[in-house]
Amino acid sequence: MHESVLVYRRFRYLKWAVTLTVVALLAYIFHSPSEPANGGTWLGYTLGTIGVGLIVWLAWFGIRKRSYANPESKLEDWLSAHIYLGLSLIFVATLHSGFQFGWNVHTLAYVLMMLVIVSGAFGLYAYVRYPKLMTENRRGVSLDAMIVEMAEIDRETRELAAKLTDEIRDLVFDAIENTRIGGSVRRQLESGRSGRTVAAIARIREIIPLPSREQTEDGRRLISLLTRKNELVLRARNDVMYKAMMDIWLYVHVPLTFALLASLIAHIIAVFFYW
Ligand code: HEM
Ligand code: HEM
Repeated sequence: MHESVLVYRRFRYLKWAVTLTVVALLAYIFHSPSEPANGGTWLGYTLGTIGVGLIVWLAWFGIRKRSYANPESKLEDWLSAHIYLGLSLIFVATLHSGFQFGWNVHTLAYVLMMLVIVSGAFGLYAYVRYPKLMTENRRGVSLDAMIVEMAEIDRETRELAAKLTDEIRDLVFDAIENTRIGGSVRRQLESGRSGRTVAAIARIREIIPLPSREQTEDGRRLISLLTRKNELVLRARNDVMYKAMMDIWLYVHVPLTFALLASLIAHIIAVFFYW
């Protein structure tokens, strides 16, 4: 996915969404119910019905996405509409409620809807921004290739370090064993160089020159390998982080969509039975 979904068919869906929003706003402004504006007036019911219709249609996107009958271009069309009409719900639902918020199931539905929308906006941002950063960060080298190169560097640094002092050997072995790429969700979202490798490089720099000239040369080679390793660690971690950012919001967007649908059923039942 790229920016093209935003300009799809010359902003066709942006125009639809703006039209819906403007009509809803004008209706709200010129509507003068005998009671304070709320979901129970004719306009309230109309906007509520449009809102539910939109939400069910937006949630349907999860099913459309997985249907093999849909070519990519059709999905882009859907996604473009999904984004703009999803955003217009902010107006439709808020005007429907007449700003009557409280600690109740109606406001729960509203809050869940807003969380789904905010997570969707973040997802859109991630889809537009991260693929570009990912390409720049990779510089033509895949994550797998980076890992292969790191393993090769680890092998060589182990060999070199074993020939040097005990302290250097311990530093290098410890840095290798304690440098991780990815793992738990928190780890995946972390970026940065390997702290222990940075410390090992600093310490080896301090104690160079080593007893023999040969050892000093090996020490220098070790530093350059560790520096290269560190750069690869940073790039691999960034790669994992970008990928995680592109996935993580869906873990909010999709489950909260289900919670939203359930709370809407409760909202509608509540207003029909108790209102
Ligand atoms: C078929 C769809 C819908 C119907 C029939 C409907 C009906 C109503 C009614 C009758 C009220 C007035 C209740 C009262 O004043 O106590 C109301 C209020 C409200 N509705 Fe809906 N609604 C619908 C959809 C939605 C949607 C999609 C949302 C947002 C996600 C929503 C959020 C609210 C909120 C926040 C209130 C204000 C609660 C309050 O007055 O205390 N409704 N709705
Ligand atoms: C109440 C409103 C919304 C509902 C119920 C909703 C629901 C969904 C669902 C069910 C999916 C399918 C996810 C999957 O199964 O992988 C989805 C995908 C998505 N939604 Fe929403 N959404 C809403 C609003 C928004 C908004 C406002 C935005 C953006 C500003 C947005 C952006 C996206 C994006 C980017 C995808 C992913 C498409 C893909 O991975 O191909 N959504 N949404």
